[in-house]
Amino acid sequence: MDLLLKGGILHDPVNGWEGPAEILVKGNRIEAVSISLGPVEAPALELKGKIILPGLVDAHVHLREPGGESKETIASGCAAAVAGGFTAVACMPNTDPPVDSREIVSYIKEKARHAGLARVYPLGALTRGQKGEEIAPLWELAEEGVRGFSDDGRPVMNSALMLRAMQFALVLGLPVISHCENLALSGGGVVHAGAAGYRLGLPGMPGVAEAVMVAREILLQQQVGGKLHLAHISAKESVDLLRWAKEKGVNLTSEVTPHHLLLTEEAVEGFNTNAKVNPPLRAAADREALLEALQEGLIEIIATDHAPHNPREKEADFLNAPFGVIGLETAFPLLWTKIVEQGILSLAELIKCLSIAPANLLGVPGGNLAPGMPADLVVIDPQKEGLVQPDKFYSRGRNTPFEGWRLKGFPVLTMVDGDIKMCDGKVKGFSRDFPAALENLLNNAKD
Ligand code: DOR
Repeated sequence: MDLLLKGGILHDPVNGWEGPAEILVKGNRIEAVSISLGPVEAPALELKGKIILPGLVDAHVHLREPGGESKETIASGCAAAVAGGFTAVACMPNTDPPVDSREIVSYIKEKARHAGLARVYPLGALTRGQKGEEIAPLWELAEEGVRGFSDDGRPVMNSALMLRAMQFALVLGLPVISHCENLALSGGGVVHAGAAGYRLGLPGMPGVAEAVMVAREILLQQQVGGKLHLAHISAKESVDLLRWAKEKGVNLTSEVTPHHLLLTEEAVEGFNTNAKVNPPLRAAADREALLEALQEGLIEIIATDHAPHNPREKEADFLNAPFGVIGLETAFPLLWTKIVEQGILSLAELIKCLSIAPANLLGVPGGNLAPGMPADLVVIDPQKEGLVQPDKFYSRGRNTPFEGWRLKGFPVLTMVDGDIKMCDGKVKGFSRDFPAALENLLNNAKD
């Protein structure tokens, strides 16, 4: 359906737009963008006081299907995505079985098509079964459409194998996404090796367990070239290495999560398993280094690492509870309230991290609302305030360390391919109130 979005403020850094704009959506594309389009034959949405952004792109989520449906399904994960303003997500291959064959990639794509909400870009395993022993059939996975390769959840410990995988990925023109962790150094740790974990008597994973692998990946990348992306950077030692790599001109990108930007190891106090995550929440000095790296552009991408777990699993004792926090439904309001409103990043910089750079990494459309582009966008209400209430999430996961936080800047409309998937917090096909919310929005524009 054609739609006119009027009254909103458009922020589209790629096209140098930052101000009032009317946007005409025709079918699944942006037809025209102008301060005033004049008379237009299309139903209008009145977006007064709202901010329009290119749809958010999350380069790192776990959708758990196949095999982990009690934690999340592709449909519930996509509902969480559009509820949080994400129009596209790249899903990690640590499913059961892992994404190491054509059949599993095609299964995920089919489930995503059926869900009909966010765009889903599967990532393929780097090694068969994610066992780190032999290279997965990368060619076959690429043919089926994966947008990158990773053994996320586990590192590839064998450096020669990693080197070869990077060489294959280079030929295929796809990124290698590395989970940087030296298992011998992190061995058995469940929290950061620091004061909070020490007080609780929990085994720690030091920052150097991450950094030695960051160093290895940088050195391998110097040999190979191609596209290297480092997932969920958490340690200050890693940031130092990224700075060195950039100075040397090594071609790589990296990401940081909202939880590593906003929390420290203290969040595990009281044995809070909702703050148990790998890599762990670290010391204040690490968090500061990450914020600086983001400001300097050393880290280009913010990704949620949305890692849902069955609430019962997270009720286990701290040592046995699984690692992971969810993030799709809290990322934008967290970053708006704690990063943009605090003056740490401008909104344009945040859009680069949450839309433009991840779309570039994956080599997919996104981060650009010029005429002719797919109509993937999100509308934010900068005034909309609310509490983080996990029982209201579309995700099957409840494992957020941000429960009860009062935030602003919630997404109020998400459009994917010209179709409204979320309106006023109601997700199409998931919420009975979605049609009424949409009608209400269209009627308001007529008044
Ligand atoms: O905390 C994490 N959870 N880190 C990972 O690397 C994997 C993820 C998961 O799959 O649950």
